[in-house]
Amino acid sequence: MNSTGNYKRHTVTAALPYANGPIHIGHLAGVYVPADIYVRYLRMKGEDVIYICGSDEHGVPITIKARQEGKTPQQVVDHYHSLIKDSFARFGISFDIYSRTSSPVHHETASEVFKTLYDKGAFTEKDSEQYYDAENNQFLADRYIMGTCPHCGYEKAYGDQCENCGTSLSPTDLISPRSVLSGNKPVMKKTRHWYLPLDKHEPMLRKWILESHKHDWKPNVYGQCKSWIDQGLQPRAVTRDLTWGVKLPLENTEGKVLYVWFDAPIGYISATREWGETHGRDWEKYWKDPESKLVHFIGKDNIVFHCIIFPVILNAEGSYILPDNVPANEFLNLEGDKISTSRNWAVWLHEYLDEFPGKEDVLRYVLCAAAPETKDNDFTWRDFQARNNNELLAIFGNFVNRTLVLTHKYFDGKVPEAGTLSASDEEALSSLGGFPEKIGQNIEQYRFREALAQMMNLARLGNRYLTEAEPWKIYKEDPERVKTVLNVCLQIVASMAVLSEPFLPHTAKKLQEMIALEKADWRGAGGSRLHPGHQINKAELLFEKIEDATIQAQVDKLLQTRKDNDAGREVEPQKEAVSFDDFTAMDMRVATILEAEKVPKTKKLLKMTVDSGIDKRTVVSGIAEYYKPEEVVGKKVVLLANLKPRKIKGIESHGMLLMAEDKDGSLAFLSPEKAFENGSTIS
Ligand code: 2FM
Ligand code: ZN
Repeated sequence: MNSTGNYKRHTVTAALPYANGPIHIGHLAGVYVPADIYVRYLRMKGEDVIYICGSDEHGVPITIKARQEGKTPQQVVDHYHSLIKDSFARFGISFDIYSRTSSPVHHETASEVFKTLYDKGAFTEKDSEQYYDAENNQFLADRYIMGTCPHCGYEKAYGDQCENCGTSLSPTDLISPRSVLSGNKPVMKKTRHWYLPLDKHEPMLRKWILESHKHDWKPNVYGQCKSWIDQGLQPRAVTRDLTWGVKLPLENTEGKVLYVWFDAPIGYISATREWGETHGRDWEKYWKDPESKLVHFIGKDNIVFHCIIFPVILNAEGSYILPDNVPANEFLNLEGDKISTSRNWAVWLHEYLDEFPGKEDVLRYVLCAAAPETKDNDFTWRDFQARNNNELLAIFGNFVNRTLVLTHKYFDGKVPEAGTLSASDEEALSSLGGFPEKIGQNIEQYRFREALAQMMNLARLGNRYLTEAEPWKIYKEDPERVKTVLNVCLQIVASMAVLSEPFLPHTAKKLQEMIALEKADWRGAGGSRLHPGHQINKAELLFEKIEDATIQAQVDKLLQTRKDNDAGREVEPQKEAVSFDDFTAMDMRVATILEAEKVPKTKKLLKMTVDSGIDKRTVVSGIAEYYKPEEVVGKKVVLLANLKPRKIKGIESHGMLLMAEDKDGSLAFLSPEKAFENGSTIS
């Protein structure tokens, strides 16, 4: 960074999607739309910016999908890579390069980084015993081992998780483990792996994140990093026994590859290198010059990899810069439910593009307006329809159309000259002047929803001004005044044609053509851009109404998915009957959670103080994967108060909080529908 706080260039990355499924609206809202708005804006300001992405093509899930489909992993990634690349291009995501991690340049780059770290002594090596399939001569990744869940008895639990009860497992937790490949009982065999000792980098991370980025990183990102660091970082294995991936560049390490999360972020660098090589550009300065600003756009599940592990790799390598910001978003839900590839609960980008041709910008608009910037958010088809009909069409499109039609009607499509400006003209033009800065600042601070809202306020300003001036009423008596009014309106339209481009690139281009605007640069967008006498082209509609039937068809499609999912669902069988007395023996009360904290060195446990109405007591609950401590404080819940005290991780728990459990193991509190007093009984 130079002394004025400005950077010379920008390196913007968007999370590499796994090449084992298509892109859906959750990916778009969380990562690709905000990143695209950001880079389009920077380009329009004349900044030097490169926007990088590509397919993440390694990892165990891809090998599993290949096995299930009777294909090779390469065939699987080839299929999804082209589908994803093509749908991004059709949607208008303006990557400078969309590469892939199965490419030779990536294998070479990732190997080089590993080798440099290895030569510098940045890894520790450790032998351990891992499950091995003797028939297939292969070590087994966690997902390649099945067995009986020690918690719920489900016989098809995987080595990393039981999909019946949702518990995270390690392979050695499974009862009667068997290999997915041969069905045989796996044997234990010694294997060597390389570890990145994250603990040794704690001082660097504390200084860099906790001291330097406390105020400019989003609270969700900063908070997650702080909690990882405060819990104590552990060495992380960066190699795996697998044949699909980047081969380990060391002697006698046949059958070992880099862990997918070691190689994937290096994919950003390889893609930049590929771009540099094919465009004859110096790629290295985008990654190595401290005057380059590196920004990673990701979803919240990727925070630890981009804020802790990858920076440790870059720092240990020694010649790379670290990210200036990692504006991670929360998740987008669909019609109140978590988006899920396996349950087909998604709006798929390639299907949307086929079913809504020419409406790319409508989806971009809705996904930005409802982006999960600070908390999870919901996409609904009714909201999609309302935002199109009541905002894009009724506000943006309507103002542009009225202005252009009137210009053609009264002045043959030539920009009229403004006469003496009235107070309202002056006010409109002066407020117009502030928009590029207002919108730009929000974009630079990663507040894309607010930036978009401001852009729409510009259209609202235009509509209000035009409606109040009523040129259609005064044309006969005062054509001179109408010239001024339409001149002002046309300047607002010209400004919208530029300032909307990062958000609605297809619409902006169309509008720029309609008003024959030659240059769409951000800085000049607040002033008068269209000179008197400038000929505009024919007015065309920018948006069209979306009818109820179109929306109903999409809702029906989702209802059908829900039905299909329900039909295939195995509901837990009903338990044995209990007597009424058994039921009334349970003392359940309304309670409020007063305090909550994670139980150290556990993934799942929260220790809470609850007010049961009878007393204030400690309850330990396995909900930490679903609720953050700060989210539960203040919640009204249902407490089974007379459960005998139990010691959990050395803490005595007095009762149990009642939870509903979803098929995928997710937990949700049961809460009284009205905020009843603590101690109220449940019967
Ligand atoms: O979560 C994911 O979809 C990963 N494929 C993201 C990888 S981002 C980067 F590190 F490559
Ligand atoms: Zn289980």
